[in-house]
Amino acid sequence: MTFLVYGAYGYTGELVAREAVARDLDPVLGGRRPAPLDDLASELDCDRRAFDVADATANLGDVDCVLNCAGPFVETAAPMVDACLATGTDYLDVTGEIEVFEALAARDDEASAADVTLLPGVGFDVVPTDCLAAHLAERLPEATHLRLGFDALGSVSPGTAATAVDSLGEGGAVRRNGRIESVPSAWKSRRIDFGTGARTAVTIPWGDVSTAYYTTGIGNIGVYVGMPPGVVTALRASRPLEPLLSLPLVKRPLQSLVRLTASGPDERERERTDCRVWGEARVVSEQGIERRAVSRLRTPNTYALTVDSALAAVDRTLDGQAPAGFTTPAGAFGADFVFDVEGCDDFADDPITP
Ligand SMILES: NC(=O)c1ccc[n+]([C@@H]2O[C@H](COP(=O)([O-])OP(=O)(O)OC[C@H]3O[C@@H](n4cnc5c(N)ncnc54)[C@H](OP(=O)(O)O)[C@@H]3O)[C@@H](O)[C@H]2O)c1
Repeated sequence: MTFLVYGAYGYTGELVAREAVARDLDPVLGGRRPAPLDDLASELDCDRRAFDVADATANLGDVDCVLNCAGPFVETAAPMVDACLATGTDYLDVTGEIEVFEALAARDDEASAADVTLLPGVGFDVVPTDCLAAHLAERLPEATHLRLGFDALGSVSPGTAATAVDSLGEGGAVRRNGRIESVPSAWKSRRIDFGTGARTAVTIPWGDVSTAYYTTGIGNIGVYVGMPPGVVTALRASRPLEPLLSLPLVKRPLQSLVRLTASGPDERERERTDCRVWGEARVVSEQGIERRAVSRLRTPNTYALTVDSALAAVDRTLDGQAPAGFTTPAGAFGADFVFDVEGCDDFADDPITP
């Protein structure tokens, strides 16, 4: 079986490529610029293919599975998926962009007809939250509302920072009655105990607003991130500037700046930092009684997890375990898929109340 890592010389792609080689998975390395691709492929003794995403069809004929690490995925996912559907290649990526998840979900029929798997979001976003969502839906199958949240320590990579700048000015997003709705940035805040005591958390437009619906069928979803109260206040105060932040004239220099300043966590930081994930499923009965299930999960550093979960997803897909069509990590492999990742604690469940 042949699998290709696209965007192999980026921060995430390189971590994935190195680990894939360490696991004897024999990856083919892909990317658009020949020079950095050649350097990495020569060092790792891998086959390489330099091509633009627009020319992917000509390069995937003999490839069984692509792992796309070239983000922002709003630019690369569609042309790569076109090529995968044309060549019968399974498509995986590490996106966290709601727009990308929704665009791929809309191609479910097309992918099923081509017998191709479309499995976006096999990194930190959304594997642990998606698996926790599936676990909560198993605990409280009648749930109508789902809240997910995470509290992550550690710095971010250049591409993550650039992707975040890309979404500046777009506000927030939640799912209500099955539909994704725009809401202001930092729309709601609440106190959440991620497992180390209560702290302030605020809503963000995280990928699970899209994916948890496909995984669980629950139609009301909000995702929170732990944040210092002062940052929440600053985010809300900056709302009037959002139209300005969405202008290309402002975004482009900001993107260049964050690419220069964000280098991504080094090995020591990846080993030393971890992440707490929290989720709550709720339902109110006709008698007005609310039932709640709360569960938590502790995971390794977000980038360490991304490498491990992405390769686990590739491994299972090559093994034929992923269904054809659009799917999510827990939709494809079940709630326990997150335990393929080394260093994840078991789900910690509060008793269902009442
Ligand atoms: N799901 C998760 O938890 C998770 C974890 C890590 C990263 N990510 C996401 O993964 C993406 C990459 O992050 P990173 O830090 O690895 O970024 P990075 O270091 O900037 O690397 C990005 C890679 O993508 C390539 N690329 C970008 N746009 C491209 C295009 N239009 N066509 C072809 N190649 C293109 C770049 O090639 P050039 O250098 O030639 O431009 C580079 O190889 C980001 O969107 C980030 O948010 C998600």
